[in-house]
Amino acid sequence: MKAASISDYRALARRRLPRFLFEYIDGGSYAEVTLGRNVADLEAVALRQRVLRDISRIDLSTSLFGERLAMPVALGPVGLAGLNARRGEVQAARAAEAAGVPFALSTVSACPLAEVAGAVKTPPWFQLYMIRDRGFMIDLMAQASAAGCPVLIFTVDMPVPGTRYRDYRSGLAGAPGLGGSLRRFGQALTHPRWAWDVGLWGRPHHLGNVAPVLAGKTGLNDFFAWMRDNFDPAIGWDDLDFVRRHWKGPILLKGILDPDDAREAAARGVEGVIVSNHGGRQLDGVPSTARALPAIADAAGDRLTLMADGGIRSGLDVVRMLALGARGVLLGRAWAWALGGGGQAGVAHVLELLAAEMRVAMGLTGVTRIDQIDEKILAGRE
Ligand code: GLV
Repeated sequence: MKAASISDYRALARRRLPRFLFEYIDGGSYAEVTLGRNVADLEAVALRQRVLRDISRIDLSTSLFGERLAMPVALGPVGLAGLNARRGEVQAARAAEAAGVPFALSTVSACPLAEVAGAVKTPPWFQLYMIRDRGFMIDLMAQASAAGCPVLIFTVDMPVPGTRYRDYRSGLAGAPGLGGSLRRFGQALTHPRWAWDVGLWGRPHHLGNVAPVLAGKTGLNDFFAWMRDNFDPAIGWDDLDFVRRHWKGPILLKGILDPDDAREAAARGVEGVIVSNHGGRQLDGVPSTARALPAIADAAGDRLTLMADGGIRSGLDVVRMLALGARGVLLGRAWAWALGGGGQAGVAHVLELLAAEMRVAMGLTGVTRIDQIDEKILAGRE
């Protein structure tokens, strides 16, 4: 199949990846109600068609945190995504750099920060969780700062992990020891292209940034045990001061879904927030980000750089998120599917598709610059 859309890359990834990897990126928590809402609510936002405006020059470029970007899109942090292709985060970071958009590296990536930063000229953004071992956090922030990472994404919506049934069914979670490993090995064998590309030639398979503190225990089971035992549920607003002491650049707080939390974030002086429900992977039942965004923009949009993720499956969706109040969006599954389905070229293609689709959405709503996008381009809100 020749992919023509993000959902085509999902189909390709489903075919090419061992089941445990596909289900990990594709799935959400519990009954996946929020995951479904993210997509459905966003696509239900109706655009307002306007005609006979000169749209011969459409400019998608924008600035975020002092960086000039080709479009208001970043590849968001996705754990384990680097296993979707050989040294996968390196491939994705290269595609992002070539397209002129930021790549954000997850703490729980396959490739360590030094490997990714060494492969590109534009340093990635770096994502961090609240981890019990504060020394480890300090070390990661120092590494990110030394690598020139311009923005720290501090994820705050995972003080306890939501349960993802699909990970239990696929053998990724819940079967410690040999059982899970054997199932995953069997799934790799039935996906020979992945087994060759990543299984054989993509080593090491451990989580590059975390491996040093796992003391040799680098299997996926060890990684999940580490997440369970080391994410700090005692995280509170005052911990932001700790992060601020060790990070001099802009901080983007990821996982804000409520206007009161956005106000508090603004009062605490963070530079931006990511309106996010973790792609429907944490508390199932919460509203979609498309629904949560306008009230957050009203509450604090003038004091914070607002970004949003969740349910973005086309350039039309990017434009919808901007019209609802975001200054930029982060992709999660979209790029992880593209990496699994087509490697670096797949990620590059998805970014091209988004740009082309954004041009159509902007042109046919009668705007030619990103800063002209607001709720006036939405039907029923004029
Ligand atoms: C990690 O943040 C995940 O969503 O799996």
